[in-house]
Amino acid sequence: MAETAPEKRLYIKTYGCQMNVYDSERMADVLRPLGYAVADSPEDADLVVLNTCHIRERAAEKVFSEVGRLKALKTARAADGASMTIAVAGCVAQAQGAEIMARAPAVDLVVGPQAYHQLPELIARTARARGERLAADFAPDAKFDALPAQRVVSGPAAFLTVQEGCDKFCSFCVVPYTRGAEWSRPVAAIVQEAEGLAAQGVREVTLLGQNVNAYAGEGPDGRPVSLARLLYRLAEIPGLERLRYTTSHPNDLGEDLIAAHGDLPQLMPYLHLPVQAGSDRVLRAMNRKHTAAGYLRLVERLRAARPDLALSGDFIVGFPGETEADFEATLALVREAAYAAAFTFKYSRRPGTPAAALPDQVAEEVKAERLARLQALIDAQQTAFNAGTVGRRVRVLFERRGRRPGQLVGKSPYLQAVWAEAPDSLLGQIAEVTITGLGTNSLAGALATTPAAAPHEVAA
Ligand code: 5AD
Ligand code: SF4
Repeated sequence: MAETAPEKRLYIKTYGCQMNVYDSERMADVLRPLGYAVADSPEDADLVVLNTCHIRERAAEKVFSEVGRLKALKTARAADGASMTIAVAGCVAQAQGAEIMARAPAVDLVVGPQAYHQLPELIARTARARGERLAADFAPDAKFDALPAQRVVSGPAAFLTVQEGCDKFCSFCVVPYTRGAEWSRPVAAIVQEAEGLAAQGVREVTLLGQNVNAYAGEGPDGRPVSLARLLYRLAEIPGLERLRYTTSHPNDLGEDLIAAHGDLPQLMPYLHLPVQAGSDRVLRAMNRKHTAAGYLRLVERLRAARPDLALSGDFIVGFPGETEADFEATLALVREAAYAAAFTFKYSRRPGTPAAALPDQVAEEVKAERLARLQALIDAQQTAFNAGTVGRRVRVLFERRGRRPGQLVGKSPYLQAVWAEAPDSLLGQIAEVTITGLGTNSLAGALATTPAAAPHEVAA
């Protein structure tokens, strides 16, 4: 490992058999990329793991007396403003986990022998529960309070942050460690900011969050509000004609949000829904907590609600251990899901993430070759999607002047860039445009002359 996170001390006390000695080494391995270096005593340790054995009699009693000794060290560290996390692992944890947690409050977490790969997630959650921010200096609400309420915007499309942090702990990703726990801004603050944007001529707002569909901000009655309900509330603001949101995790896409894609005319028919990979084995190693089939079912339900939905995604190729067959499962998923756009990445080791320690890192040439194949497939799908809109009439929000005099460039509901001959008076406005041709990065269009029949964003 070339790089690691800031150093922390890890003390592992191993009881019992060779199997436990081996497991202790594996635990040190999964914790190393998070910055934990093995120490030979529990003094000043940030993390103590008791890797227990159940074979001998009175194993649990031994654990309790060891925890008693550690508790004194933990208290002393707390007095210095530092913390010590105490974890009980191994067979005693498996057999008597609940009893340990109940009888020994100094123990922060209990982890059975089958769950060592989850240690980074469990430890980060424990630190968060204690109120420790893992990397950020201050809580996001303080940050938002310190920002000026009135934003100065340029153009008719703006971003608005509604959520920060992530609780998903994908094993390749730094966000849960660096940005901390999921946190949502209250509805009132978002509505106020959105009204300010609309008053400045903003017609389209994209709600931002690292895991935006986990949004659960405080509503008017003090209870949490879902992203779907927030979208309905924002749709009431005069002038806000278009809403989008990004980025979403499949497991947080609720029924009400799917329904909103069918019901809410302001919600644009475009969704960025990363899947990362198409092989369930790789998805498990990524700790994605969903399967390929589960993702495809979700896409099906979204398209049942909104048949013309343009789907976008993120993909990682060359995750540690990814075989040719795993990669082909990604290609198969892409063929089935049919993307209008997507972002593709070669896996890169991020210090401080569990995957950085995984064996079987994929060779750079293999990653490059897979990336090229995936990109070619996605490019073809994107071209097919764009070709499908040629001849159709779409509403375009004109955002800026085009390269040639007399041209304006804007976005279709599907987030396609569209240019057309149009007067400057349409800058910042939505106009009906017939798509006339395909370019490399944009579509050519012509202002429609007759009024549209349907009130919806897209005429059939
Ligand atoms: N290597 C490659 N891609 C990554 N992403 C996040 N972490 C990594 C990594 N370690 C990608 C994921 C995510 C997007 C924002 O960045 O696809 O969805
Ligand atoms: Fe969270 Fe997305 Fe990172 Fe997964 S990839 S941990 S969902 S921010």
